[in-house]
Order: sequence, then structure tokens, then C-alpha cells
Amino acid sequence: MDVNLIEKLVCPNCKKNFSIFKVLERRNNDLVGGILRCSCSSYVVVEGIVVFDLDKNRELVQVMTTCTDYGKIRKTVLKFFVSDKHFEAIHSGKSFSEVVNVVYNKSFADYLVYRYSCKSFFDSIPFFVCMKQGLILDAGCGAGHFSNLMSQYMPESKIVSVDQNFVSLLIARNFFGMNNLLCFNMDRIFPFEDRSFDTILCNDTFHYLNNKQFIALEFQRTIKKSGAIFISHLHNALKENYFAGTPLKPEEYKSLFSSSRLYSNDSILKDFFLNDILNLSINSFISDINNSQTISLVCSEDKNLFKKYFNLSKFFYKRMPTYSLNPIYKVKKDGEKTVLELNYPSIIFKKEHELKVDFLPQLVKLDNKDLFAKETLLRLMKLFVFVKPLEKVFEKLIGTCDC
Ligand SMILES: C[S@@+](CC[C@H](N)C(=O)[O-])C[C@H]1O[C@@H](n2cnc3c(N)ncnc32)[C@H](O)[C@@H]1O
Repeated sequence: MDVNLIEKLVCPNCKKNFSIFKVLERRNNDLVGGILRCSCSSYVVVEGIVVFDLDKNRELVQVMTTCTDYGKIRKTVLKFFVSDKHFEAIHSGKSFSEVVNVVYNKSFADYLVYRYSCKSFFDSIPFFVCMKQGLILDAGCGAGHFSNLMSQYMPESKIVSVDQNFVSLLIARNFFGMNNLLCFNMDRIFPFEDRSFDTILCNDTFHYLNNKQFIALEFQRTIKKSGAIFISHLHNALKENYFAGTPLKPEEYKSLFSSSRLYSNDSILKDFFLNDILNLSINSFISDINNSQTISLVCSEDKNLFKKYFNLSKFFYKRMPTYSLNPIYKVKKDGEKTVLELNYPSIIFKKEHELKVDFLPQLVKLDNKDLFAKETLLRLMKLFVFVKPLEKVFEKLIGTCDC
């Protein structure tokens, strides 16, 4: 937990700011283990993650108050959140793929390993060009894929990553290097002051939330007047979706957010892929929206946000000087050629996540001599065959490109 973020947090009960009551371990600005206090309660910081679960805090604060050496109680404290098996997997130096296959079931592990090949990933990407820089909330961040991407594409911004699942946050910290991590259930009052954030992103999550009306109000309370909320990849209740959650109809989503517009994800993706644009100026026909399997909602009082954005690829490639092969591709050498073959991990994954637009080609054949040519790279980046690397996650870092 970056100590500079602590002054921006408020207690959900007394609404007062926190002070650091006890430091058990601190590495520069990173508070790894400790206790925060406001005028009514104490909240623990475990592995750099602030825990807002009051029941857990009651017991943990006692354990941590009487101790001075975080190293000695680290395992005891972590037992409140994570099994020994999962703890060992996360800290054993195993690869990302190995760890998530120990911690989650196969289907969710595949979702995480091949996150950069899921429709629910692409549906969010075009919005990066119009996100407001500054303090950004990744609401329901999961293992941290989007938090990390935003921190790479928007290095001037500070990303706050929130999830109710402590183990996912631990993975976000260990593999994605995130350090403003808060563990709380968004069904409760958020620990932020009014008008805190420049951008709120909630991707592939809102349809899973129970208390949508309350959470929509919390998003609108905590976003700045000039800020923007992106609720991307929303399951549409009028259409079928795998692991649907509790989706609403498009009009019902819209009724939760004032000054908002809905977009069909397929239209946004087609524009991104074919025309290199993001068009937020359109008022889509409700029939188009109702017919879309997934939609995105953008909410902002800033009318200037709702315009047409051009040359999206420039934004992405400029900020992508190094690249990795998307892990969904298998590499084969065939004499003078290198063959990249799209290799879905399962039939279910393909059905759930396959894209209707032409990203991720089935087969890419490249002359070995052209493999690292700039034109080849740009073409393959545009198709998401090459993606922005996360060495710890992808393992196979291919190289650098002066785009
Ligand atoms: C399908 S994952 C999406 C993760 C991430 N946004 C992404 O797109 O990669 C949904 C996430 O929402 C989190 N979540 C669900 N209900 C929540 C709640 N009430 N409060 C906080 N997080 C919640 C889950 O733990 C999970 O990590």
C-alpha cells in the first residue's frame, strides 16, 4: 500500500481520514504490514493490502497490535485469508499459469492466463484513449490485468485496485506489481471521499454485483465532476451469456447512471478494428443495444467526452515499445517460416470468449527474415497477436520495437 494513498482514504463509518497507527513492515513508501486508525475503528494492512472487512479486522487487529515483527506473524495473519496450499503456490516462484491453476478452477484459471484473448478484455480496450488521467479506480479488479495495463498506458496516473477476493489481490500484487490494493465488498460504503476519482473502470464485473443500485450511486458519489465512469462489457439480460451473473436489461443499466450513454461492444470493436476510431458521439438505437450480447456504459458530466476519437492505434503502439507473443498462440518452426497458431485452451473457452471481429487470426505464417520487421510487428500488434508484455505473467518476452 503506497502510504501516499492513505490520506485519500476515509473510514466508511465515521468518514474520517486514517493515520498509520502501527508499522510492522515498510519498504520505502510501501506499507506491507501495519494498522490504520480513524476515530472509530482500526483496519489492518496485510501484504500491502488494506482490509475493510470489520469481522476479520476485529481479530486481526488484536494479533497485530501485540506484535512488532511482521515476519513472525505473517503466516498466522495470512491464514485468515488464504489456505496454506494457495499461499505456498503464490510464494513458491511458480509461474503465473501454474499459480492460478492451483488457486482457481480450470475455467477461471484459463480466463486469467488467456485474459488478453477474451472478448471481455477487448471490449474495454478502446476506452483507454479517452480515460481521464489522475486517480483511477479499478472496481472489481480481479487479478489485476486491467490495473496493470492502465498503469502502463497511463503512467502519469495512480491506480487504486479494489476487489472482495483477497487471493486475487495477492496475485495482483505479486504478478502485476500493483500496490494500491483494497480488499472490500462494494456492497458497502466505499472508503473514499466524494469526488475522489478522475476515472472509474468496472470491467466484466457489474453484472455480478448484488446491490447494483447502491454501487452505481457510490461510483457517482466518488467520481469527480470532470471525471468519467466506464462500465465495460456488461451482460445484457435480453441475450444469453455464459456465467451471466444477474444481468439487467440495457435500459435498466442506464437508469442507474445519470448523464450516461450505452454502446454496443460489437460496434465499438468493429470501429476500433476497421476504422481505428472510437465514436462516443453516437446515440445508438435502443434496438441495436438490445440486440447486443454485451454492452458498455459511459457516464460523465463532461459533454466533451462524448466525441469521436481518431487514430487509436497511435495511442496504443506509441505506448508499446516492448512486446510479447500473446500466450494463446503456439509457435512452430517450419523451415524458413515461423507459424503462429491460435490455440484455444478448451471448447468452452472458445465458445465464451471468441471474437466476432477479426482480431487474433487463426494462423499467421511469417518469413523468419521478416519476423522482427517493423511493418510485421505493427500489423500483428493491431491484431493482438503481439501484446504489451508482462514478463512475470507471459514468460516469453520477445523483444522491443521502435514504433
Ligand atoms: C469476472 S472478474 C473481472 C475482473 C477484472 N475486472 C477483469 O476484467 O479482468 C469479476 C471480479 O469482481 C469481483 N467482485 C464480485 N463482486 C464483488 C463485490 N461485491 N465487491 C468487490 N468485488 C467483487 C470478483 O471477486 C472478481 O474478481
